[in-house]
Amino acid sequence: MKIKRVCILGAGTLGTRVALQAGLSGYQVAIFDIQPKALENSQKLMQKIVRQLANNSGLDDVAGMNAIAAITFTDNPNVAIWDADIINESVTEDPEIKYAVWDQFGKIAPEKTIFTTNTSFLLPSMFAEISGRPERFCAFHFHDVFYSKVVDIMPHPGTDPSLIPVLMEFGKSLEQVPVVVKKENPGYLFNSMLMAFIGAAGKLLTGEVASIEDIDKSWMVNFHMHMGPFGILDSIGLDTAWHVTNKLPDQASQRFAALLKAYIDKGKLGEKSGEGFYKYPNPAFRSEDFLL
Ligand SMILES: NC(=O)c1ccc[n+]([C@@H]2O[C@H](COP(=O)([O-])OP(=O)(O)OC[C@H]3O[C@@H](n4cnc5c(N)ncnc54)[C@H](O)[C@@H]3O)[C@@H](O)[C@H]2O)c1
Repeated sequence: MKIKRVCILGAGTLGTRVALQAGLSGYQVAIFDIQPKALENSQKLMQKIVRQLANNSGLDDVAGMNAIAAITFTDNPNVAIWDADIINESVTEDPEIKYAVWDQFGKIAPEKTIFTTNTSFLLPSMFAEISGRPERFCAFHFHDVFYSKVVDIMPHPGTDPSLIPVLMEFGKSLEQVPVVVKKENPGYLFNSMLMAFIGAAGKLLTGEVASIEDIDKSWMVNFHMHMGPFGILDSIGLDTAWHVTNKLPDQASQRFAALLKAYIDKGKLGEKSGEGFYKYPNPAFRSEDFLL
């Protein structure tokens, strides 16, 4: 089947990026959120990303802005789903919210629509039945979209295998490297490895072994990376990270989840709220003398 029209559910950190990339790749795109403010912010974030891509990656600024102008931003589910060939769901990483969304959109989506979720750690089999079309349901999970261009394709046991090549092609058309996760695995491939390293960083911090900055510096210097675990957490969003960490039963994860919650309660959600472990738009780890 030919995918032409893409419906993105959730206009937050990831939904915004997936919708923008789909627009830049020439798809017709609608992005849906229940919060009008989120839609407003989404449009502003897209403009910011386009300016960054124009400066750093040679994207044509005007073409980028035109792609944004062609996207439908809506809080009307029927407008969002109209004629959609595929949904990529990026609502809050909370199973109850995702159940409700898949229940809602499963009932109003056209028969042809493929259902995909961008969940980071939940499993597609959790939502396949409630969507009403388990055979057309699959996880399609992005990382950063523009700088980390890998998309996980992870079917659940009831996914029709013919969906996989369609999603592989779709992923490539969005300038991602598609990888297939052959069986359901929380965290797919990269996030499984990432969680181990972020969990270790959290344990060092809650155990008062070192400061946020020194833990990040140690990682950045050794791996020649431009950010460390706490910078990465800020870019993921501390609320999203909390949803994952809070579900892990071991004591170290629970202590780290409590620390994340303390930040969240103060409105410090990471880069998207202007402050998390670092302050934005100019976090200390990006300053020239951070690693001196
Ligand atoms: N942040 C990341 O780095 C990242 C990476 C890959 C995947 N993901 C996944 O993407 C999903 C979204 O994460 P995020 O970081 O963008 O979260 P976010 O908090 O930035 O955005 C979530 C959005 O969902 C909206 N929402 C909540 N309930 C809704 C509903 N019923 N209908 C429509 N919209 C609703 C919220 O208003 C919000 O705008 C999660 O499943 C997360 O695991 C996140």
